[in-house]
Amino acid sequence: MSELVPDAEATAAPPRARAWPVVLVGLMGAGKTVVGRRLARLLGVSFCDADEEIAAAAGMGIPDIFEVYGEAAFRDLERRVIARLMRDPPGVLALGGGAFVDPEVRRLVKEGAVSIWLRADLETLLRRTERRRHARPLLAKEDPRRVLRRLMEERYPLYAEADLVVDTGEQPVEVVVTRIRDLLADRARRS
Ligand code: S3P
Repeated sequence: MSELVPDAEATAAPPRARAWPVVLVGLMGAGKTVVGRRLARLLGVSFCDADEEIAAAAGMGIPDIFEVYGEAAFRDLERRVIARLMRDPPGVLALGGGAFVDPEVRRLVKEGAVSIWLRADLETLLRRTERRRHARPLLAKEDPRRVLRRLMEERYPLYAEADLVVDTGEQPVEVVVTRIRDLLADRARRS
């Protein structure tokens, strides 16, 4: 009899939550690469930066891809490179700020990874992007404050579709990385 009666808890349990691989999303300056690299080291897994893979695939840096081929071509390549990476993903993958805006990328990440939005406020993003603005074509030509504010409005509702959200601001990178590790452990325990 007991075998036929479904266990109430088991039936109510959510589907097993994926805890692997980890994909970091967020705006330019949110710290995806720095945090991703450190997180991978802490977890003892591999790390990959999607922008680096895109540059390697194109044989030129991101600013040159924008300059020579335009943003639409960059987005197309970005989508294809991320699709390839998601077929055999590293332990931790950092995406460029615009990648998760693409519906196909969002679908792949939602299906195949646990996504984490590194959320930051405007002042943090401005401060962190100050030094390497030339490497970010979207910030190179217009007032960065205006661009970042606009991108926050456009993208934050989409980043909010990530599985987990972690705020990054003044705190050291170790604090952010430890917080992510704890959230992932918690998620694994609950699933
Ligand atoms: C972009 C972010 C950049 C890079 C490209 C476009 C964006 O990556 O992919 O310049 O659209 O926000 P980071 O977020 O790593 O700077």
